[in-house]
Parts: sequence; C-alpha cells; structure tokens
Amino acid sequence: MANKKRIGILTSGGDCAGLNAVIRAVVYAAARLGWEVVGIEDGTAGLLTRPMRYKVLTREMFDTTIMRLGGTILGTTNKGNPFKFPMPDGSFKDRSDEIIGGIKELGLEALIGIGGDGSMAILKTLAKRGNINLICIPKTIDNDVGKTESSVGFETAAYVATEALDRLQPTAASHDRVMVLEVMGRDAGNIAMTSGIAGGADVILIPEIPYSIDKVAQKIMRVREEERRNFALVVVSEAVRTIEGSALQVEHFGGEKRYGGIGHYLGERIAAKTGFETRVTVLGHVQRGCAPIPGDRLIAAAFGVHAVELVAAGKFDRMVAWSNRNVIDVPIEDAIASQQAVDINGALVRTARSLGICLGD
Ligand code: F6P
Repeated sequence: MANKKRIGILTSGGDCAGLNAVIRAVVYAAARLGWEVVGIEDGTAGLLTRPMRYKVLTREMFDTTIMRLGGTILGTTNKGNPFKFPMPDGSFKDRSDEIIGGIKELGLEALIGIGGDGSMAILKTLAKRGNINLICIPKTIDNDVGKTESSVGFETAAYVATEALDRLQPTAASHDRVMVLEVMGRDAGNIAMTSGIAGGADVILIPEIPYSIDKVAQKIMRVREEERRNFALVVVSEAVRTIEGSALQVEHFGGEKRYGGIGHYLGERIAAKTGFETRVTVLGHVQRGCAPIPGDRLIAAAFGVHAVELVAAGKFDRMVAWSNRNVIDVPIEDAIASQQAVDINGALVRTARSLGICLGD
C-alpha cells in the first residue's frame, strides 16, 4: 500500500488500569486505515537498547481479554529521564539522541505516547529536538493532568479507594474504631476527595487544604457523641503534610523517595487526641493494578481512536482530552502547564462540606 503508515506507541510513567484498552483502540483504529503499529517496550527505555525492544502489534493479538487487564503489556518506566540518564558509574548522561535515532530507525511517522505530565514533558522535548510527530494520551491515577476532565486510570483508582472504604466500614463498626485510609495521588487530592465523598468518609484530608489536627479530632468526637455512631472513616491523601509542615516520604532501595507515611502519622495523633482505637490502611499500588472500570475503558477507547484520527489528519503536538462528554484535543504544552488539583471552591468541596464531611479546616 503506497500510503501505509507505521506509527509507534509507548506507555510511560506509573502504570494504571486502562492502558491496554488504549493500546487496543489505537491498534484497531490504525488497522482500519491499513497502518502498522509498533509497540515500544518499557517507555523510551525500549529505544535505548540495541537491538531496540519493540513488537509489531496486530489486531489478532488484541482479543477482548487484553482490554480487561490492568497494567500495560508494553511495560513502562517512571525512571531514567533521557536528558539526565543515570549511568552505572553514578554519572548522568544526555541520551536523547539515542531515542530520537531509534524512532528514525524504526521509520515511525508518528509516535503516540501514553503518559502523565512528567512523561509528556519529556516526550514533547524529544519531539521538538528530533522533529518527531507526537500525540499524547493522558493517563494517571492522580488525575492531575490539565485540560482534560479525566485521565485514563483515575476512575478505576477512585473506585478501588471507594471500595476500600466500603470494606473498612463494617470492620470499623464491629470494633468501635476509627479507620484511616491513606490513598495515592501525589500533590492532587482527587482520589481522596472522590472516594471520600462516594465512600461516606467523615474526614477527607487533601494537600490543597491545610488541616488542623484539632478540627479532625473534634469531628470524630462529634460523630461519637452527637451522631451516636461508634466508628469513623478518615481518608488522607499521601502528600498531605504533617502538622509541622513537612511531606512524609519513604525511601526505597537505591535511595529513591516516594510519598508515604502520613496515614500512620495521623492515626497515632487521632488516637492520642480522641482516645479511640485507630487503625491505618495504606492502599498503595492496589489502586493501580486492577481491571479498568467502564468509565476508564470508554475514555481509553475514545482517546485511542482520536489519537489515530489526529495522526491521519496530520495534526501533531496535541494531547487528546475528555471534555463535556466528548473527546477533544489540546496543545500538549497547555495540558502540562495547567495542573489539575482539587478546586477548593468547586462542586466537590462544596458537596463534601454540605454533607458535613470535615476537610480539616
Ligand atoms: O503518579 C502515580 C503514582 O501512583 C502516585 O500516585 C504515587 O505517588 C506514585 O505514582 C508511586 O510511584 P511508584 O510506583 O514509583 O511507587
């Protein structure tokens, strides 16, 4: 076929539910146009090895089983910035030319990058330097990418956190306990706010709203004394700070740091202030690894199809986005520039307050 295109696709940054559904949609939409899709393994890392690591993706590989799977069949990485790549001797090297060279060698007419804001910023810079036709698809359980109402993976993560509250409630009630649930989300409290309202939390703490431990304790006392309820549910976002103002982190092997620890920190203080037995659950990566719920499968499909439409139209440097029940596209730059945190004057915050949920202030 004279105008047969070869396009590349990769997943980058933390995995989430719905990535395989996006890949499937891209492969199906491209196949209808007679194009070949090359899946690059482990994000840009697959372009750094020689031979490069990739596989040609065909419709036949994507029966509907894969669409239901969490994770990404291509693999991903949230380390190894190609402009400052950590080398075995401890030094850092700019390896962007190797990636750009790899894309040229594969003969890709366009690259579809599925990632969050960090990955998109890297891919955009690579595209500019290497004159690569780039389309981005937003994915992140944090839902912090701007210019899109939802990113792939968020709805499922919020569902998992809500389900965790559903499961914590009966055991809390059976033992007269306060249950603290620590959820992910980095600097945006979207998972905490959504699951907290949906899961009937008494207290929701998010990085966007500074809290007072006394206010939290007062709310829990009110639940006991005024509402005559023997349990309380608290959701806390991982990036919420301590009373002293620092964000808690856990250090992994190799020195890498990630948010973690605020749940236990708060659990101790809530128990000390209220006298109630308190238990802490850290939900962690459970929020990322399950089958996508319908909302994520739907936007995954719509995003994948629209990304291929953009390539067909020769419209590049765009991110597909969800807006007003429709799929649109926006400049990648605009999406990266506008982080989507919880709007402290928005509908969710007002709803939570009207329901009597304590936001710590
Ligand atoms: O950005 C997605 C996310 O799951 C955050 O919510 C969390 O802080 C981080 O990634 C965890 O990263 P890792 O998988 O490297 O532990």
